Amino acid sequence: MESKASATSADSFGRSRFIKRNDKVPYRVPSEHQHAVANSRLSLLAGDSTPNPIRVVNKPQSQETHEPVLAQDLVRAVVTDTSGIYVDATFGRGGHSKAILDQLSDTGRLIAIDRDTDAEASALEIEQRDARFKFANSRFSELRKVLDAMVIRSIDGVCFDVGVSTPQLKNADRGFAFDLDGPLDMRMGKGSGSSASDWINTVAVADLTKVLKLYGDVRAARSIARQIVSRRPLETTFDLVGAIRAASRSGTTSAKILAQVFQAIRIYINDELNELQAGLSEAFEALGCGGRLAVISFHSIEHRLVRDVFQSLVRPSAPRGLPVRDEDARAQVVLKNVRPHYSERQANPASRSAMLQAIEKTR
Ligand SMILES: C[S@@+](CC[C@H](N)C(=O)[O-])C[C@H]1O[C@@H](n2cnc3c(N)ncnc32)[C@H](O)[C@@H]1O
Repeated sequence: MESKASATSADSFGRSRFIKRNDKVPYRVPSEHQHAVANSRLSLLAGDSTPNPIRVVNKPQSQETHEPVLAQDLVRAVVTDTSGIYVDATFGRGGHSKAILDQLSDTGRLIAIDRDTDAEASALEIEQRDARFKFANSRFSELRKVLDAMVIRSIDGVCFDVGVSTPQLKNADRGFAFDLDGPLDMRMGKGSGSSASDWINTVAVADLTKVLKLYGDVRAARSIARQIVSRRPLETTFDLVGAIRAASRSGTTSAKILAQVFQAIRIYINDELNELQAGLSEAFEALGCGGRLAVISFHSIEHRLVRDVFQSLVRPSAPRGLPVRDEDARAQVVLKNVRPHYSERQANPASRSAMLQAIEKTR
């Protein structure tokens, strides 16, 4: 099994959580967090309708729209200077980008990034009518390169809203949803790297079991992995659903289990945790002093990863036996574990598992 990103073995915070390209084991999930993955983005599959704190849309979301989550809190946390330079690292369909642009003055700037070329059309629409906005089709782990290409040295704020967007989930051709039949693809960057079916059709049972356990907290990981391997080749999402169902003794499989398996494979295929860790590192280093970094995450592994990275900046560890020196801290907490209000969760089920965390760079 091969890690898919060009990960490095240590990040800029001196930690060594990335796996090397040829490592056999994916990003390790702290054991106390392996139980809570289940809730992840299940809710996204339920279909959304809308009000949100910034603007009210009273119609169900179409395949092409994505309702931004925690938009008001995110913008307040990130934008401190209306003529500053900001980055939306996960453009999607631009919900957060539009909310940020609404706050900026004529001299403010916003750079948006998305690895999915499908995001580009919405971004180009904004680019054409708003000179303050620029889009780059890239991975957020390459943020520094994107900024260099635009001759930008430092930024005032950056936000991440990780995972997949509603349009990605609701497009059967992308293969993210267990309830839509389509090719078993699951690549966020369309056409780049191996698809889920390429991987599933060659992976060993032991490696598949590890991924299902670590990234999906799938209890019956081994029997599901065995069924998947025995039914190869799997080409469609419904082929995968059939294999998962076949592993159940009772013959019934809950939506929760299907979502867990799909989530685990998606995280692995897109190397999402290494991407996030590298993206946070790039983003923090790009911030000027006083700049803000805000992240909306959707499941416990992501929540924990963001918390750990933020913690290492706010309270860096001291050499063994020595007290932590306040002057070693590089950031202070702005927002901790903010969840959507009841009304947002009701209006937009996709927001239910969201958590917003934000820090400010102090040096
Ligand atoms: C939840 S959606 C963001 C929605 C967006 N905030 C909005 O309001 O429309 C996440 C987006 O991040 C993108 N994405 C995920 N991982 C990425 C990465 N490593 N680099 C760049 N974009 C990424 C996905 O393609 C998807 O479009």
